[in-house]
Amino acid sequence: MKIPNIDLVKIWLKEGDSRNPGPWVKHSELVGNAAKIIAKKIDNLDENKAYIMGLIHDIGRTAGIAEERHTIDGYNFLKEKGYEDLARICITHCFPNKNIKANIGIWDCSENEYKFIKNFLLNCEYDDYDRLIQLCDCIAMEDKYVMMEKRLIDVVLRYNLKNQVPIGIPLLEKWKKYLEIKDYFDMVIGTSIYSFLPNVIENTFGLVNSNSK
Ligand SMILES: [Fe+2]
Repeated sequence: MKIPNIDLVKIWLKEGDSRNPGPWVKHSELVGNAAKIIAKKIDNLDENKAYIMGLIHDIGRTAGIAEERHTIDGYNFLKEKGYEDLARICITHCFPNKNIKANIGIWDCSENEYKFIKNFLLNCEYDDYDRLIQLCDCIAMEDKYVMMEKRLIDVVLRYNLKNQVPIGIPLLEKWKKYLEIKDYFDMVIGTSIYSFLPNVIENTFGLVNSNSK
């Protein structure tokens, strides 16, 4: 897989931030850092590749404010830059169990793009990098790491209430899959992934960070 160097990725994120300013850039940095930290603990994962994939997963937001469309926008962005293999992460990070109906954002892309994503997922075999970015996306809020369950609730409260989408079985299956992915990485590492990420307990429970005393 062809991977861009870190300097280029940082330029893309900076350009994206000026075009569509928002917390997505800081969130992307947190996802990249978590992916790097976790990948370092696993023999067959490359920490630099994991870092770049985490940094780049939401690069579709560079195209402007969007909901589910940010997946295909990111895919197209990387494909146009010559990183077609890497582009998959912009789609796969949103679909842990490949069910397009489990997503709660608005499908603000064209019908053809929707069909493309659906077929892409059908034909795509996930590897540990896809699973790692799905995991890291789900423990990184806009500015901090938290326990996964807190992030899942946060997303539902923001999107489901805004879009008036009822919680259904596909969403619960998606949550279950996220929890399974976390268990999988805990098992591979031999302990909780939270033990390597800064301040998860403080951030999750609103405690004062003992390091800041
Ligand atoms: Fe994300």
